[in-house]
Amino acid sequence: MIDFAHEPVMVDEIVAVFSTVPAGVVLDGTVGGGGHAAALLASRHDLSILGLDRDPAALDATRSRLVDVADRVTLQHRRFDEVDDALTEAHVDALAGALFDLGVSSHQFDVAARGFSYRHDAPLDMRMDPTETRTAAEIVNEWSTEDLTRLLRDNADERFARRIAEAIVSSRPVTSTHQLAEIVVSAIPAPARRRGGHPAKRTFQALRIEVNRELEVLPVALDRAVGRLLPGGRVAVLSYHSGEDRIVKARFRHHETGGCACPPGLPCGCGARASVRKVRVSARPSDDEQSRNPRSVSARLRVVEAV
Ligand SMILES: C[S@@+](CC[C@H](N)C(=O)[O-])C[C@H]1O[C@@H](n2cnc3c(N)ncnc32)[C@H](O)[C@@H]1O
Repeated sequence: MIDFAHEPVMVDEIVAVFSTVPAGVVLDGTVGGGGHAAALLASRHDLSILGLDRDPAALDATRSRLVDVADRVTLQHRRFDEVDDALTEAHVDALAGALFDLGVSSHQFDVAARGFSYRHDAPLDMRMDPTETRTAAEIVNEWSTEDLTRLLRDNADERFARRIAEAIVSSRPVTSTHQLAEIVVSAIPAPARRRGGHPAKRTFQALRIEVNRELEVLPVALDRAVGRLLPGGRVAVLSYHSGEDRIVKARFRHHETGGCACPPGLPCGCGARASVRKVRVSARPSDDEQSRNPRSVSARLRVVEAV
């Protein structure tokens, strides 16, 4: 099997979420190393998986991991907002469910050359899909101070966004992960360096989100997946930071209300119809999982079911 270290988050909860869906195809929009997909296939013999990932290395890992159940697995190299094209190519009309486990895999963080981590020195890359052209180096070296400031605020709630942006612009060219991490550390006040994990964590997160346009493709993917559900089918999303979770909450709310804009407290007169209902689940990993798998600590699960 290909070496692909990634422990799936809230795997028992995800299996429980899909235990009630009709038989059929579950779209795993972020198949990664295939951990959730393997658990779902083992839990229900009447489900098959249409797995997407924008990282070809993840697809290779899943292909090798799921070789024994290959007759129930279809894999495609795609972004997850391309739901419609994925279903057309796989000759699937409707989905029993869809799962989106957002962000980066541990494997992507651990391979130094991918440039996702301030822990390993490497060129500033951060592309999940190496066939795309724009890297983190381009953003860091070409964007204005104002645009970098906005990026750090919007994508990572960075308190010292302006100071970091100014330090980046005055240090150009910035070519490596360690160089960037050092610039961030020196840009923020000394007392703040000792709080809340590595000082460069938020800057790296903000850049990764922009390089991969993570927040742009998410609402499109959710709308398309909800629109393809069989009655009783479910969409589950694991998000890892507030920017993602805000989008998930807003798009699910839109489908729960059918987009109704009538004043709260009054009967709906606009004719909007809900297409899903919210499914109440434990939204956070157990204490045990959080202590076992640090990556799970920030996870938040939201689920809707087609009505
Ligand atoms: C957290 S990992 C998923 C791990 C997976 N659930 C498992 O059990 O192994 C996220 C994966 O989603 C992929 N990914 C992130 N955004 C994507 C997108 N917009 N389209 C397709 N794949 C995406 C990443 O390349 C990564 O492999």
